[in-house]
This record gives sequence, C-alpha cells and structure tokens, in this order.
Amino acid sequence: MYLISLFCLLAIQLNPNNIPQVVAEMTTEEKVLLLIGDRKQKTTDAGDVGYTLRGVPGAAGMTYAIPRLGIPAIILADGPAGLRINPTRQGDSNTYYCTGFPIGTMLSSTWNTELVGEVGAAMGNEVLEYGVDVLLAPGANIHRNPLCGRNFEYFSEDPVLSGEIAAAYINGVQSQGVGTSLKHFALNNQEVNRLANNVVVSERAMNEIYLKAFEIAVKKSQPWTVMTSYNYINGVHAAENKHLLTDVLRGEWGFAGAVMTDWGGGYRSGAIIEAGNDMIQPGAKKHIEAITKALENNSLSMKALDECVTRVLQLIVKTPTFRKYAFSSKPDLKAHAQTSCKAAEEGIVLLKRGALPYSKNTSIALFGVGSYSFIAGGTGSGDVHKPYVLSLDEGLERSGFALEKGTAEFYGAYMAKERKRCAMIDGQKKPWYIDAERPIEVVPTKQIETASQSVQAAIITITRIAGEGKDRSIEFSYNLTREELQLIDKVSEAFHKQKKAVTVILNVCGVVDVTAWRDKVDDILVCWLPGQDGAVAVGKTLCGEVNPSGRLPMTFTLSYWDVPSAENFPIILPDKPFNYSHYRNFRDGEINSDIPNVDYTNYAEDVFVGYRYFTTKHVKVAYPFGYGLSYTTFNWGKTSVKRTPEGYNVSVEVTNTGKLPGKDVVQVYAKGKSPDSPSLELKGFVKTKLLQSGQSQVVTIFVPSADVPSSYRLVTLRNAQNK
Ligand code: GLC
Repeated sequence: MYLISLFCLLAIQLNPNNIPQVVAEMTTEEKVLLLIGDRKQKTTDAGDVGYTLRGVPGAAGMTYAIPRLGIPAIILADGPAGLRINPTRQGDSNTYYCTGFPIGTMLSSTWNTELVGEVGAAMGNEVLEYGVDVLLAPGANIHRNPLCGRNFEYFSEDPVLSGEIAAAYINGVQSQGVGTSLKHFALNNQEVNRLANNVVVSERAMNEIYLKAFEIAVKKSQPWTVMTSYNYINGVHAAENKHLLTDVLRGEWGFAGAVMTDWGGGYRSGAIIEAGNDMIQPGAKKHIEAITKALENNSLSMKALDECVTRVLQLIVKTPTFRKYAFSSKPDLKAHAQTSCKAAEEGIVLLKRGALPYSKNTSIALFGVGSYSFIAGGTGSGDVHKPYVLSLDEGLERSGFALEKGTAEFYGAYMAKERKRCAMIDGQKKPWYIDAERPIEVVPTKQIETASQSVQAAIITITRIAGEGKDRSIEFSYNLTREELQLIDKVSEAFHKQKKAVTVILNVCGVVDVTAWRDKVDDILVCWLPGQDGAVAVGKTLCGEVNPSGRLPMTFTLSYWDVPSAENFPIILPDKPFNYSHYRNFRDGEINSDIPNVDYTNYAEDVFVGYRYFTTKHVKVAYPFGYGLSYTTFNWGKTSVKRTPEGYNVSVEVTNTGKLPGKDVVQVYAKGKSPDSPSLELKGFVKTKLLQSGQSQVVTIFVPSADVPSSYRLVTLRNAQNK
C-alpha cells in the first residue's frame, strides 16, 4: 500500500498546463480506458486503473478515472428539455428532481435567442449543482419530415433558426461552467432502423441544410462536446467519419472540443478513434479489446490515439469535477420553474383566432382526454424526471376560469379506468411509446349538449407524444383519430348552436393534420409539450394575460403527402408498429441496401426541405413556417438594407398599432430566382421587446455577404408566405 501511494505521489498530476506530459506518462492501457465510457460505478483503492471515483445515479455515462495521474471521472447526463438523473436514491431521503423545461421545438417557437439563453443558464445551473459535468444536449437535427419521432427534441426545418437557437442554448448552459453535447452529428432525421440506416444525400443538401445548423452552433458557441449520430452517411458511419469529424468539424469550422459517440453508436472501435471521435460511450469491454487490437495491427496509430486522449483531458480539466466544485444538490428549482414557464409563454403559437382571449372568469367546458392527461415532455432520453406536471385544469383555474363540473367528472371517471390501458399514466410514460396507446374519445352527446347550455365556451385538447427509437404513424399520430374528429364535430355543433366559441389546444410533439377540422373551430393554440408549468402558460394566454408571440419553426401542410420527403420516409403501419426490436440485422461496418427508408433513406428532395419547397414550388400550406398570430397588430415601416464591408444591415421599424402589449418577430429572407435553388431562405431574425400599444422599435439584423446568393435580395417578412 505504501509503495502504491508513493508511486501515486511521484506520478505527475493532471493540470490544464501539463496535458502533453500527462499523456506521455500514461500507459497504453490507461489511454484506451480513458476513451471508453465507464457507466458502471465501482469504487476501489486509489491507483487501480479503470475505476470511477464518483457517479450521479441516473446519469447516462461517465469517463474512467485514473487516480494515480489525478484524472477524475466526469459525468455525462441527458437531455434537451432539462437534466435527466434519478429523482430519488436508495437510502437517501433527499430528492433530485430537475426542472422539466419546454421541448426544443417550443424553444425555437419563441424565436427569442435571449430567452433561450436564460433557459440554458437555468438548465446549466442544475447540471452544476447536481454534480454533472456535461449535458447531452441540444439536439439540432433538421425536421426533414414531421413523422420523425425525435423532432420534438430538435428545433426546426430551417438550419438558421436551428443553429441560432442551438447556439443560444449552448452559451446559456455553458455560462454555468458546465459543458454541452451538440447532437446528433449528423443527419439523424428518422428513428426507424436508426442504428444502421444509411442516409443517401447530396453534398449540397448536407452543407446547406443538414450540417448548416451545426456549423452555426459550433461557430457561435463552441460546445464542449459534439455527439455523433447512429446512422451512416453515404455509406460511412457518422461515428467513424473522418471527413466529417476531422476535416469539416475541426478543420473547416474550428471546433475545439471533444467528440463522443451516441450510446452504442458506431461499430469499428479503431476506426472511430482514427476518425477523431474521442469517446466511445457508454463503454464496453469489447471496445477496449478492439482498440488494443487495432493498435497492434497498426490500423490505428498511437498518434491518433494520443490526439483523442489529449482532447478528453482538455475536456476534463474544464469540468466542475476537475475543479472539485462543491455542488449543493439544491439548485433553485422554484426560480427555474419560472424561467421554464416564461419560455412556454413565448413558445405558444396562435394559429387561428376567433374568440380569444376569453375574459378571466369565463366558464369553460374542458373536453379531450388530453385535457386530463396534459403532456409536458417527450419520452426516452429527451424526458426529465420533473417534480410535478401541472394539469391543464389547474392551469386554467389559476387564470380565473370556471370549469364545468359535469364534464370534468365524466372525464375523471373515464380516465381513471383508461389509465391502466394507456401508455400515458400521469407522468409515468412507458418507454417506446406506441401512438395507438391513448385513451379513446368517447364523450356522450348528451354530456356535450348539457355542457353547451351551462358554460360560455368549450376547449378541446388534442395531445400527441413521441420519443426516440420510434417514428410517428400517420394514422394514430399525425392524423386526428375518427373519435377525435367526431368529438370536435359534436362539440362545435352543440356550442355553435348556442352561439358559443370552441378553442382547440394542440398539446403535441410536432405537426399534426389540421385540414380535417380547423374550419369547424374558432381558435387554435399550439402549446407543444410545454414543460412542467406549461398549463399556467396556456391559462395566461387564453385569458390575454400573455399575448401569444410564438411563430412556427416548421410548416403545417394541408396533407402529410404534400411534404417533399413523404415518399422517402418510413411509414409506420398501425398493425405492424416498426419498433426498436425490428431493426434489420447488421454486421459491423456493413450496410444492407434492399429496404428503402429502412436500410437506406434517399434524401431525394435535396435542399428543398420545408418552406424552401412549398414557396419555390408554390404549394399551398395550412400554416407557413414563421407563422403565428397575436392579440394585437403590428405595423412595419419601410425596410432599409444598408451595405457594409462585411454584409448587409437590414432594418425596419415595428409599431404596436393595437390595444394590447405584444412582441413581434421580424424575419429576414434572401429572395430570388434561380433554376436549381430555393426562392426563399431565412437569413436572420429578431424578436422585438414587449411593445406597449403605440410603442415602436427599430430592429436591425446583420446578414453576412456570403449568406446572400448573387441576384437575390434581402426582404423582411412576417413568415415564409408573409401572411
Ligand atoms: C440515446 C440518444 C442520445 C442520448 C444518449 C444517452 O440513445 O440517442 O440522444 O444522449 O443515448 O442517453
């Protein structure tokens, strides 16, 4: 024992200025261990290689500690909507709940980078105070198709909105002295067969659409880490893609951090390290053996190994664990809940306005099973163990609404029975959720008619949830079910007969069909999956205490089949849900190529993704990208575009010409005609401050010259169709 501690005493101890010396001191085994995650939590006498010194239960992974060199294990934990760790621990009377923030899609719906930065800072503080070092977020993959099961974790169909929101998020989190992991790099735009799907995509679409959001985020925020994706890209696995990780990410964009695989992502361990992917998470013995073998047969150079080890040590010395930060495990959850609610308020999008806002004491009948199982977030690693989820009725009552008892009692009894059958049991979601597992809408017509005579308005909530490992089905997730449509018909008929209004609230993970029913109701509010206090934000919006200022970060089409990638995306058949276990057998490094949209997915739409397609090809949509209504009106003055040596300053004066205070979003697009390019591309945006009635604000957005295709001009629009 004495000898070991002497040996430790003599060994060099890691510090930010002696990393090359530490690398030189490390044995090959120690180097390999450092690159392989060690999720298992073991404790042992100091000095043994490969044992961890601490862990945070429920964290996703950690690195190996090498105590003799003063290298601690660092802790990696999910996720995009808030820190994801176990809320309770064996034999510990404390709790470790984390704030459930709005989903990524709702953060981008705010179009407010400053507010997203505040959310990031609150999340980052919980990462810090719960003893975690790196938050495995944000997800910045493009919404290529509305059925992707993870779109809720991602931001938009547009790379500029995605990149700017991601950068704001990362800067916010990292302002607390903890790291992030920008993911999933890259082109993880479907969940079906995600571990082996080969994306077939043009270089141009990669650069202009799918990598662009990552490029903006890296250049504007320098995430401590980047996480590679599960899929192949044009036949090369993302985790083993040297061109992507070394030439592009580091060489062209100047990324200075560490790269890690997704959990279990990538197959040829030596190729992963050789590509410049620094950590194989969550780690397994087979990788240690494979890397050791790759070194022996020279398919992996010691130089490449040392480069990865150096970057991991550069990451470690930045972390609170290395700084021995005395975390409290007591972050200010109350303050963070307010931040979460504020983000939800600004992320709500008003799609249709007829009767809203209601006056505070309006009596309401609340319909829809979603009204009684309000969904705060998605499933899988994008979920958070929240201290509570406020129910919608609670949120409405806090805003002074009087809820009709009969309907509430009917649903109360019905839902209690249904909960056992459904995947959605208050706050406890079954993983790998299948769309069909949702209570069926069965409200008797009599119940609706009685309610229509006794209250002033009706609200119907439609909920949709999703999560990693599964994509959404058209029948059960994208379209409303027959029973939901019948409910909207019956409620609208009964209430309109009484000359009373009907509002639909979309408590959803992403785009749903609106064509089949939107003309039957008076108001439509999208509140996405708004986090634990989202119901308060909805209540405040319905009564006008908050003026909705969200704008769509993606397009709502008239039909799913209008989506340009509709033919090139896996269709989940309700009777044969394609779930996690149905992945095709794949052999390390080899790709199947016989089942389209499963073995490979052809990005045939190229750069014509989302509004780029609908505007260029003049396809009518239900609600365009960037769209959102307000309870007030805004007038825009003349747009001025001033040339500067580096680019263009685009300015416009926005005036609140209505009665209620409100915020507006000015979107700057490059607009032009070119045979093979989209006619419209978002180049920048800004959200105004809260403008009082009659108040004006001049906003200026800078657009670099390089971002404006020649012969295009810069215009300010309210949304992609300027309506
Ligand atoms: C998951 C996800 C990734 C997550 C990781 C750790 O499979 O793809 O987003 O961060 O594993 O939970």
